[in-house]
Amino acid sequence: MNKWQQIWNKRKDNLENVDVKNPRAVFAELIRLDGYDSAGITSELLSYFEHQYDYLKAALKCIGGGCIFEVGCGAGAWLYLFARDGYTIGGLDYSSALIDIAKKILPADKLSEIICAGADELPTDKKYDAVISTGVFSYFDDLAYAERVLEKMLDKSLRAVAVLDIYDKAFEDELLAERRRAIENYDERYRGLKKLFIPRTFFEEFAARHKLTVRFATNNRGGYVNAPYTYHCFMEKNYDELFCNGQRFIRDGTRFEFYDARRQSQ
Ligand SMILES: C[S@@+](CC[C@H](N)C(=O)[O-])C[C@H]1O[C@@H](n2cnc3c(N)ncnc32)[C@H](O)[C@@H]1O
Repeated sequence: MNKWQQIWNKRKDNLENVDVKNPRAVFAELIRLDGYDSAGITSELLSYFEHQYDYLKAALKCIGGGCIFEVGCGAGAWLYLFARDGYTIGGLDYSSALIDIAKKILPADKLSEIICAGADELPTDKKYDAVISTGVFSYFDDLAYAERVLEKMLDKSLRAVAVLDIYDKAFEDELLAERRRAIENYDERYRGLKKLFIPRTFFEEFAARHKLTVRFATNNRGGYVNAPYTYHCFMEKNYDELFCNGQRFIRDGTRFEFYDARRQSQ
């Protein structure tokens, strides 16, 4: 078990002191558990993440009431929001502590599967409209591992694969300089806790090999300290039609629309 995994395994929830009927309070606790608490959970940070969620939902262009799987879901902060919006959800994380919390907080009637395993062991038998991963790829050892995970994500996805908060190789020196400036004894405190920086060409080449469309978005909003040094990558399979939950959807530009065979034959 590497040092990062040991850290994620030690996360402890404070849910007994959270009003579980208040979704914003629950989301704040899940974000804290997922490690975004280095500077405290401020309302500015919460608004940043809520905006990030709306952005992700729009970017995924999910067909109504779709299904979403998250690799490295942690305590399930994003899955919690997707479930509240009516999506069927699934998630995987290698931290047994965080998966136990996710099991406790995510609504059972929306949860299709929740798995404690390494990302490269992702089972792909159950499929989802979109398979996402947020703030996770920077914890991987190397690009070979990242590529194995992407292969699994693609296999599990019916349509879209989205990787968010990727540490940009182009900004590696800048980010490390900023962390050394902001955190006392940074190198000592983070010894053995490496971060993986990935160039955009890694995703472009993966997309080209698998005939996917690929687009990038810059994460330039304030609110979270590392955001300016990260980017998002959205990849899509080039189907003209797809089948989900026993129904047929056909491509209309960049969207998929429900295909109603009865209306077509009238
Ligand atoms: C910063 S947290 C992000 C959690 C969640 N995606 C979010 O954005 O709130 C990173 C998560 O990635 C998980 N993780 C890191 N490397 C992993 C791996 N190789 N396999 C599975 N999970 C991993 C950690 O356990 C942790 O829950």
